[in-house]
Formats: sequence, C-alpha cells, structure tokens
Amino acid sequence: MTPPYFKTSGHLLVCQHVNCKARGSDLLYKAVWNALDARKLAYFKTGGSVRLTESGCLGACSYGPVMCVYRQREGRLEEGWYAATDFPLAMVVAQAAHDGTDLPEDRKYGP
Ligand code: FES
Repeated sequence: MTPPYFKTSGHLLVCQHVNCKARGSDLLYKAVWNALDARKLAYFKTGGSVRLTESGCLGACSYGPVMCVYRQREGRLEEGWYAATDFPLAMVVAQAAHDGTDLPEDRKYGP
C-alpha cells in the first residue's frame, strides 16, 4: 500500500528547543497550526499546501523564536530564515508559501 502524498508549497519549521521555547515558540507553533487549519492553508485541507513541523535548535538561539521555511520556486530550492518570529510574521510567511509569492524581508536573516 502506498502512503498518501500531499502536494506542498512550503514547509515551515518552528524551533522548539529550550531558548526559543523560553520566548514562546511552543505557543507560536500551536497558534500557527490552528490558523493553518482554520484558514485551510494546511497541506491536508482541500486547497491547502503548507506543512508545519516542530524542529530542534536552528542555531540562532539568542534571537528566537526562530523559524525557517523551505520551498521549491522557479526550479530551485528557496529557504527563508526568520528571527524573533511572532504570529503575524509566521502567517505572512505561510501565506507567501501558499501563494508562491515573495517571502517577507522583515526579520529575515541568512542566505
Ligand atoms: S533554541 Fe531555537 S534556535 Fe536554538
């Protein structure tokens, strides 16, 4: 039997390690998950396409909550890394991933 495959427009990872949790990343993760579900952006919803995963330390512990996103865009792998992520920023990133539009520059770092 083949497992179901859900097409994905972007994969968000929210750090759940100690320093980010001390800055509320567990609440951020739950709030984003609830919003992806309610707004039908989550990959398992009809028309949804965004994945969300708890991650271990993403290496920017003093700047959390840290979130990153990966997606395929224009034939290449694109990544976005975000420091001091709050709910509004996470949802802008999620919506951009879903819509295939530019990722926000606010609080973005890295490549
Ligand atoms: S604890 Fe979140 S980046 Fe290290």
